[in-house]
Amino acid sequence: MATADWWRHGVIYQIYPRSFADANGDGVGDLAGITSRLDHLNDGTPGSLGVDAIWLSPFYPSPMADFGYDVADYTDVDPVFGTLDDFDRLVAGAHDRGIRVVVDLVPNHTSDRHPWFLESRSGRDSPKRDWYVWADSRPDGSPPNNWMSSFPRAGKAWTFDEPTGQWYLHSFMPQQPDLNWWNPEVREAMDGVMRFWLDRGVDGFRVDVAHKMAHDPELRDNPLVELGEEDLGETQEARDSRRAKLKAVPRRDEDWPEVHEILRRFRQTLDSYDDRMAVGEVYLLDLERLARYYGSGQDEFHLVHNFVFQSQPWKAEAFRSVVDEFSGLLPADAWPAWMLSNHDVSRVASRYDEGGNGQARARVAAMLLLTLRGTPFVYMGDEIGQADGEIPPDRVVDVDGRDPERTPVQWDASPGAGFGGDPWLPVGREAARVNVAAQRDDPASMLSLFRRLIWYRKGSPALRGGDYRSLPDTPGGMYAYLRGAGDERLLVALNFTGQPLEYQVDGPADGRLELSTDPARPAGGAVGLQPLQLGPDEGVVVRL
Ligand code: GLC
Repeated sequence: MATADWWRHGVIYQIYPRSFADANGDGVGDLAGITSRLDHLNDGTPGSLGVDAIWLSPFYPSPMADFGYDVADYTDVDPVFGTLDDFDRLVAGAHDRGIRVVVDLVPNHTSDRHPWFLESRSGRDSPKRDWYVWADSRPDGSPPNNWMSSFPRAGKAWTFDEPTGQWYLHSFMPQQPDLNWWNPEVREAMDGVMRFWLDRGVDGFRVDVAHKMAHDPELRDNPLVELGEEDLGETQEARDSRRAKLKAVPRRDEDWPEVHEILRRFRQTLDSYDDRMAVGEVYLLDLERLARYYGSGQDEFHLVHNFVFQSQPWKAEAFRSVVDEFSGLLPADAWPAWMLSNHDVSRVASRYDEGGNGQARARVAAMLLLTLRGTPFVYMGDEIGQADGEIPPDRVVDVDGRDPERTPVQWDASPGAGFGGDPWLPVGREAARVNVAAQRDDPASMLSLFRRLIWYRKGSPALRGGDYRSLPDTPGGMYAYLRGAGDERLLVALNFTGQPLEYQVDGPADGRLELSTDPARPAGGAVGLQPLQLGPDEGVVVRL
């Protein structure tokens, strides 16, 4: 396998194991299912998607209160997904095809069924009492402070434990107690978990809610600041002052400075192996704070997921300003990562849909993701333009409304779309039409577009690692940028509107149209640049 910095040049594909592929026909995806579909991901030819790495959401033993993000044993496989042998076969099969394997590390919290927590809650004098965050009631009997769970439905971030008369902290569900990262034994234990998987051959970690690991050790209240949505009628001054206020009084339940110490230790562990990578899930909507998770650029995360990018409305100017601002904030050696969807947010094809243009916009979104300077993360199913599933009330299983983006990947037109029995979440309504089998040989399909983009990217030093400059003088609704490396220069122009747009390119009279998101527009020929004409919801890559 090609080595140096695979995580900078490659495309990383997220697999949510419950919903990817079901080998044993029980309606829940499994590790053997993933192994059986590796050729879809990359068989070494442009007939496959061509991804360079997979990131697996948790497959560890778990009571599944949060579908695996409540880990009861960090170093095994839940029987619903298979065995450690299945995992080894998956890694071997992936590595045979040049696909790296990244696993989810969930260091902020365990399951309340994890032996560490069972021991911790067994008594105030338990040797593991301090492995979790325990605190007394306030004098009036209320929880230790005003911190809230990230899941609105879970309410307060504290649960009272009657037998020991104290509260424990849970940033998510009560079934997910937070570990106490101020305790060196916790740090030691997680180091052991990392080494277990690194020794088994995994190429890296996606670190779950990394920004939550360190909080105010004095457990003081969060400041009460209006965190509400942006008010569109608000003046610029009002908006700036609200943002400034938020920065001045940061929260105390996350993003505490010592988190960087923890991450530096993670990095040292990774760096004691060859070629490993960590990408942080850092859900901070402040780009400056986010950029700090790269440390010096060499000593914390290799990559950081940028949720400011992911939460932009479908507006050219919005995406351009996030990309430009973030690129400017990164330390010299740091490399961006870009992700538009994952298992926690509405799928691209549904999120941007307005009156039936979801597929056209999803094609533009794919071009954006795969042509920016940085590592693209593709969420399983987005390569076929899969939409959010519809979940009848009696099938809702997630505490936070995330079932729609977790319905089974649609492999074929059969009733389970490739899953056996009655899949754990209902199969999407459009599965008979929108599926891998139907798209494989259709040059106009979303899958064909993804394959073309990914394989084109592989052959283009400018796209894989070149520089980036956004063009400031584009018409409203267009985001255009130049990518360059050596003498290769590419212009990417994306039309975020439903109207045709024209752009007078500062440069040659014409270029070569390498790719268009419009299946009806033939690529490979000359294209005029004076002006460059884009159809509604069209994106192009032009070689200059
Ligand atoms: C992350 C995961 C999400 C999970 C939460 C708690 O945000 O992506 O799915 O619920 O952490 O572990």
